[in-house]
Amino acid sequence: MPLLWVIRDELGLTGTKYGCGLAQCGACSVMVDGVVTRSCVTPVEGMVGRKITTIEAIENDEIGKRVVAAWVKHQVPQCGYCQSGQVMAATALLKQTAHPTDEQIAAAMVNLCRCGTYNAIRDAVRESGGSAPSNTAAAIGNAKVAAVHPAPSVAAAATALAGIAVVSAIAKAKSETVEDGRDGHDEAC
Ligand code: FES
Ligand code: FES
Repeated sequence: MPLLWVIRDELGLTGTKYGCGLAQCGACSVMVDGVVTRSCVTPVEGMVGRKITTIEAIENDEIGKRVVAAWVKHQVPQCGYCQSGQVMAATALLKQTAHPTDEQIAAAMVNLCRCGTYNAIRDAVRESGGSAPSNTAAAIGNAKVAAVHPAPSVAAAATALAGIAVVSAIAKAKSETVEDGRDGHDEAC
């Protein structure tokens, strides 16, 4: 069973999204022991004893909190679907590299965004890393649309659900009830 199924279907932490299911888009990104990981292709059986951090708990992390603040300031999200994965990737990057260059940001922020928020993401990561934000046209252009879509991580945090789970208990309880091979995931986002 993929870790993503446990996070969403068993724990009800729906801030982590299902996109491609093929480790391509990054919508399902979580942190495993601080390392960004694509949960759609990560077997839960290998997660015993590991620390899993999802978007719901990102603001319990000092760097995550800073990233969320920058995301809100730069009004990064449009539809919002990819954004929890983007925030996880940005937080993981800044844990490894406190002040990333634009090249390091480009290399690390490879999650797909069908709304094209890449420039705003770069600016928000720059700011989270302590660099002065650039004032790109894209960030300005995104502002109006994003204003009506609150940052998903903020909305998720409001649920007050614990997003840090030691998955060993889950793996034990659920590894027999594998429902693998589904070709869609059409539950509520
Ligand atoms: S859903 Fe996991 S990478 Fe796309
Ligand atoms: S896919 Fe819509 S904000 Fe990224």
